[in-house]
Amino acid sequence: MKTQDQMKMAAAKKAVQYIPDNAIIGVGTGSTVNFLIDELATIRDRIDGAVSSSEATTARLKAIGIPVYELNSVGDLEVYIDGADEINHHLHMIKGGGGALTREKIVAAASRQLVCIADEAKLVQKLGAFPLPVEVLPMARSLVARKLVKLGGHPEWRQDYVTDNGNIILDVHGLNIMAPVEMEETINHIPGVICCGLFARRHADVLLLGRADGTVQVL
Ligand code: A5P
Repeated sequence: MKTQDQMKMAAAKKAVQYIPDNAIIGVGTGSTVNFLIDELATIRDRIDGAVSSSEATTARLKAIGIPVYELNSVGDLEVYIDGADEINHHLHMIKGGGGALTREKIVAAASRQLVCIADEAKLVQKLGAFPLPVEVLPMARSLVARKLVKLGGHPEWRQDYVTDNGNIILDVHGLNIMAPVEMEETINHIPGVICCGLFARRHADVLLLGRADGTVQVL
């Protein structure tokens, strides 16, 4: 029986197979990605560089000697590897538990392949038990919260937290996410919303799921 960290580590190790030689790759954020960055240190010679989804990831990449580029100075990326807070069998995800959802969504949109790495607890039948993070412009906090209540959610302001982009996060509990693509669009259209943590329109292409028995399932 593997621990959650061992499952995350196994998924991260497998993700290395999806990295082409001499590419600039997209790197996500979170504890599972931190295991990936440990792996990247061992194959550093065949990676040209990275585009990072957060200041935290940038610091870790630089610490192992991987050059970090601005997305504006590189073209599309071959692959983006990131974790998820929840993922369903259609590979729709909830992300943003670590607060980096906006940059994650931008790097994902610029990447040909999105590889999700996760432990088996992240795979769910239906998204929404994990509160949905929504990044919001500070002046719109109360307006956006009222609109989210009308959608059936219970938004909670993530206290004492500012995103890398200078905004706030509302964590929305209790949403009934029957149709993730439509819910993502609806929330994105609320004025003041910068980004919604549903990754349904641009979902993962591959899920590498670390299992308690030590295997990594590819979905
Ligand atoms: C960061 O903002 C998130 O989207 C993370 O990718 C997600 O929360 C997964 O994090 P863990 O790998 O720490 O579970």
